Amino acid sequence: MAVSPHPVRHRRRPRTRLRTVALVGIDGSGKTTQAHVLADSLAAAGLPAIYRRNAGGRRWFGRLATTLGRADGDALLGRRLMLLVESLLRWLAILRTLLRRSVTGEIAIMDRYAVCQYASLRAHGARPAAERRARLAYRLFPKPDVTFLLAVDPAVAYDRIERRGYDHEEMSYLRAATAAYEALPEHAGFVVVDANGTPEQVQQALLAHLQVPAPAVVPAPRRPGSLLATHARALLVTVATLAAAASALTYQLAEGF
Ligand SMILES: Nc1ncnc2c1ncn2[C@@H]1O[C@H](COP(=O)(O)OP(=O)(O)O)[C@@H](O)[C@H]1O
Ligand SMILES: [Mg+2]
Repeated sequence: MAVSPHPVRHRRRPRTRLRTVALVGIDGSGKTTQAHVLADSLAAAGLPAIYRRNAGGRRWFGRLATTLGRADGDALLGRRLMLLVESLLRWLAILRTLLRRSVTGEIAIMDRYAVCQYASLRAHGARPAAERRARLAYRLFPKPDVTFLLAVDPAVAYDRIERRGYDHEEMSYLRAATAAYEALPEHAGFVVVDANGTPEQVQQALLAHLQVPAPAVVPAPRRPGSLLATHARALLVTVATLAAAASALTYQLAEGF
């Protein structure tokens, strides 16, 4: 998918529009690093790209657990409750990202997406019913225009996480998570990028796939008069979605865990 700098008035409507790019993969694969750099690179090329994080709160609960003398979020809440909480928090984070995107017209460079939750459920040994329920809840969210799977050797990821120093993952979990991403039905649609190289090499691979900068694709120009209507629409969508979803989602997920 090619993208090019700021829209030019005399150009025809673009053939495709880049709206959302997701970076997914196991912990330590470099998602956060690459998503930040990619958003900066696209912004430097004149595109309205912004880094957005779709976190599930596992790290926050991990820190809380350590403070309270527990090993991690699983030890604090129990495996099933932690998965439920993670699924809920990530769902809300993705909703917030997409609503922001619909208001601002930005290109959202997303650090994790729905598929990360399916992989997490599998890697943490959740029952198939839990993934089915999660998929039901997350199907509200559109498929990103591009999903990059940062494929990394679990041993490389392990070393990076240890060097990062603020969390810890077991090798067995990193292997299980790798297998989970590979087994997802969405895997065939991923753009798999070798993430074992240097940050510069990985970034080059991402930019090469997006063909930045290139003239074929232009983000849709915003019509100035439509800004107020867009805000009102987004507010309406937010209130209605949150109200309807909060009860439905809690029910759906709780049933499955
Ligand atoms: N390609 C790379 N080579 C070496 N170190 C990397 C690379 N990408 C990221 N890192 C470092 O590895 C650690 C994990 O990267 P991070 O982006 O946080 O991964 P993730 O978000 O997928 O968990 C960070 O300390 C980061 O600085
Ligand atoms: Mg990260």
